[in-house]
Amino acid sequence: IPVEPFDYVVFGGSGDLAERKLLPALYHRQVEGQFSEPTRIIGASRSALSHEEYRKFAEAALKEHLKKGEYDEAEVKKFCARLFYVPVDAKTDAGWDQLKKILDEGKERVRAFYLAVAPGIFGDISQKIHDHKLITKQTRIVVEKPIGRDLASALQLNDSIGRVFKEEQIFRIDHYLGKETVQNLMALRFANALYEPLWNANHIDHVQITVAESVGLEGRAGYYDTAGALRDMVQNHILQLLCLTAMEIPSSMDSEAVRDEKLKVLRALKPIDASNVEQATVRGQYRAGASAGGPVKGYLDELEGGVSNTETFVAIKAEIGNWRWAGVPFYIRTGKRLAGRVSEIVITFKPIPHNIFDQAAGRIVANQLIIRLQPDEGVKQSLMIKDPGPGGMRLRNVSLDMSFASAFNVRNPDAYERLLMDVVRSNQTLFMRRDEVEAAWEWVDPMLKGWEATSQPVQGYTAGTWGPSQAIALIERDGRTWHDDI
Ligand code: BG6
Repeated sequence: IPVEPFDYVVFGGSGDLAERKLLPALYHRQVEGQFSEPTRIIGASRSALSHEEYRKFAEAALKEHLKKGEYDEAEVKKFCARLFYVPVDAKTDAGWDQLKKILDEGKERVRAFYLAVAPGIFGDISQKIHDHKLITKQTRIVVEKPIGRDLASALQLNDSIGRVFKEEQIFRIDHYLGKETVQNLMALRFANALYEPLWNANHIDHVQITVAESVGLEGRAGYYDTAGALRDMVQNHILQLLCLTAMEIPSSMDSEAVRDEKLKVLRALKPIDASNVEQATVRGQYRAGASAGGPVKGYLDELEGGVSNTETFVAIKAEIGNWRWAGVPFYIRTGKRLAGRVSEIVITFKPIPHNIFDQAAGRIVANQLIIRLQPDEGVKQSLMIKDPGPGGMRLRNVSLDMSFASAFNVRNPDAYERLLMDVVRSNQTLFMRRDEVEAAWEWVDPMLKGWEATSQPVQGYTAGTWGPSQAIALIERDGRTWHDDI
């Protein structure tokens, strides 16, 4: 269904995020027929580009980043015709009058400002938007991580935007929430009667969340070395996955109802601080090895200085202190330059209480539900069955396997496509509320401080492996293993 006409202003419009993600995502939405006219996309940044030059930039971006067969000359032409560009400076008044003039042509339309810029200037841009009277009744602002590097800086950043915009106008993107299978997690839990009665400490042994990447720094050493895996992936994406897995059933899909429940999970996470950080976490850093079919450098060799204690891998044993999850560990691991690109949530159910089969039947493996986010999005449920044939009772572990790609013949949209349009529709369900971001930092901060206080070292791991051996020990100490059917 087409949405009402809108103006999307992309600050950092000629930058990397716009090029790789935002412009292709908006293009796809146009192709899917979601735009009504006159919808405009207005790039804004410090580069001195003309409208025409910006259209050329977008055309090249689409050529480079659309998949084979998606680039359609006529659609691209139509898309470029809705592009405009204004050079503006976040720190001075240069360009803002011109932006206002363009925007005034669409006073009644939905107006979204996307800040695809360094968080250090979120506050400056918000203030300029305010000072130049660009805020209408239908205005929204979109920001993306990193929202702070600790609780104090997150508070400051949220304040600097909050001075100008009301919470219901602020859309904090966590692109994991836009992923198809992440939303499917909610469908699986709340649109089926099957799982919910089992979804608790009585029936679930433990949960694993893995977000493994095979890539390394991808030219982002400057940012990454000041962040590390805990800030880059856990504070946001992985905690969001954990919340959706662990939250109570919201009373509706209303954005406040959903976010209230997620917040409760974050607040119930048991603290990990200097007193227990060494038992509950493992930090890793990749060394030279092989990845994607070739040799790759170690982390330190990719850095200019060659010295760093930043973790490129982290494993955590997290616990949620509430009735539903008492005693059920949530094992988390994420890292760069691991053996493959895999994101999944694995729910392992408790073993059967009593085995009636004799030894010859073989071992009974606990049931697992595997929610695969990427690649090969899908859901698998493992079950014990009898091995077919007349050979007596032998048991076998098989899985009911639903791969979305083979079950549905549809294009898997990029996370940004949904999220960008949810902004226009003013649906905040898949965006982080201020208190969620802050609660996530409240859990992460003591861990960071704990690492500092205990000088917890990074353990080396060879690029192309599953991380340091200490991460295997973290889960095996509890008599469990990482799911490795990857
Ligand atoms: C980003 C992180 O938020 O997410 C990157 O900053 C990471 O370091 C990326 O590579 C992973 O996203 P995806 O969608 O490729 O899993």
